[in-house]
Amino acid sequence: MEYRFSGNSGLQLPLISLGLWHNFGNEDPFDTARAMLLHAWENGVTHFDIANNYGPAPGTAEITFGKVLREDLVSHRDEMIISSKAGYWMWDGPYGNGGSRKYMISSCDQSLLRTGLEYFDIFYSHRYDPNTPIEETMQALVDIVRAGKALYVGISNYPADKQKECYDYLHAAHVPCVISQYKANIAYTNTLEQNLPVATDNGSGFICFSPLAQGLLTNRYVNGIPAGSRASKNVFLRPEQINSEAIAYAQKLTTIAAERGQSLAQMAISWLLAKDVTSVIIGASSVAQLEDNLQAINNIVFSDEELRKIDNCKTR
Ligand SMILES: NC(=O)c1ccc[n+]([C@@H]2O[C@H](COP(=O)([O-])OP(=O)(O)OC[C@H]3O[C@@H](n4cnc5c(N)ncnc54)[C@H](OP(=O)(O)O)[C@@H]3O)[C@@H](O)[C@H]2O)c1
Repeated sequence: MEYRFSGNSGLQLPLISLGLWHNFGNEDPFDTARAMLLHAWENGVTHFDIANNYGPAPGTAEITFGKVLREDLVSHRDEMIISSKAGYWMWDGPYGNGGSRKYMISSCDQSLLRTGLEYFDIFYSHRYDPNTPIEETMQALVDIVRAGKALYVGISNYPADKQKECYDYLHAAHVPCVISQYKANIAYTNTLEQNLPVATDNGSGFICFSPLAQGLLTNRYVNGIPAGSRASKNVFLRPEQINSEAIAYAQKLTTIAAERGQSLAQMAISWLLAKDVTSVIIGASSVAQLEDNLQAINNIVFSDEELRKIDNCKTR
C-alpha cells in the first residue's frame, strides 16, 4: 500500500480507505464484517471511515468496528486512522441532526462510547447545515479537538463557497481542516471540478467516496439485481437506477478496463487515484470484492487515449 500526505498536514492516508456505511451494521453478518476489516488491515488499509449513522441500524457500524478493534486489533490502535462524523439524522428532536454545537459534541461523545475509543483520529462535520452558522459548527469541531476527543477535523459535502469559509475559520483557530470528503467517480465528476481545487488551494486533503457509484461501476448488476445487493434494498440505490443505459455504460467501461488488464471496479478506483486526491474510500460486502478493489493500486497510470475513451463513454 502507498500512503499520501493529506493536504499540507503531516498525516498520511492509504490510497485505499475502507468505509463502513453499508454491510457493517447489526443487520449484516458479523463474521463477514470482521473478515473484511481484518483483510483490509492486513493489506495496508490503515484508515477506516465511519459515521454516527452508519449501519443499519444507525450507530451499529461503530459498535461492529469497536468490537473487532477490541477483539483483534487493539494492539494496533496507534497504527490506524479512525474517522467518524456527525451531520445527518441520528436521533429524534431538534438536537439529533444538523450542525449545532449541541448535536456535534453530544454525537461525538456517543460515537466514542459505541466504538469504545478514547479519541477519533478525524472527526467530521458530515454536511453543511443552512440553519446553523458555520462558525458554530466549526467551533464545535475545534472544541472537540481541544477536549482531546479528536486529533484532526474534516468536512464533507459542503458547497464550494461554504467549504472555503470552513477552511478560513479552522485555519484561524489553528485546527486546520485536514481532509475534505466528497462523492466522486467516473460518472460523477462535479466535485472534482468544483471542490477539489478549493481543497487543494487551501491545503486540505481530498478523499473521495462512492468511487464505484455504489456498485454501478462494477460487474454487480450485469445479470440483474442480486439478492442482498444494495439495489435490492431499494434505499440508497434504487432498482430503477439499474436501467439499460447504466448497464450499457458499465459494459463500455468494462471493455476499456479489460484492455488495461483490470476489472471495471479496479479501473474506477485507479481513475480517481490518478488524480490529485489523497485517498479513495471504498465499500464492499465481501472479502472477494475488497480483494478485487485493493488490486486497483497496481495500475494507476492512464494514457491520454484511455482517458479520452473513458470520457467518451458518457455520451452514447
Ligand atoms: N461523507 C458522506 O456523505 C458519505 C456518503 C457515502 C459514503 N461515504 C463513505 O464512502 C464509503 C464508500 O461508499 P460506497 O459504499 O457508496 O462506495 P462504493 O465503493 O461506490 O460502493 C460499494 C458497493 O459496491 C459494490 N462493490 C464493491 N466492490 C465491488 C466489486 N469489486 N465487484 C462488484 N461489486 C462491488 C458493493 O455492493 P453490494 O453491497 O451490493 O455488494 C459495495 O457495497 C462509505 O462506506 C462511507 O465510508 C461517505
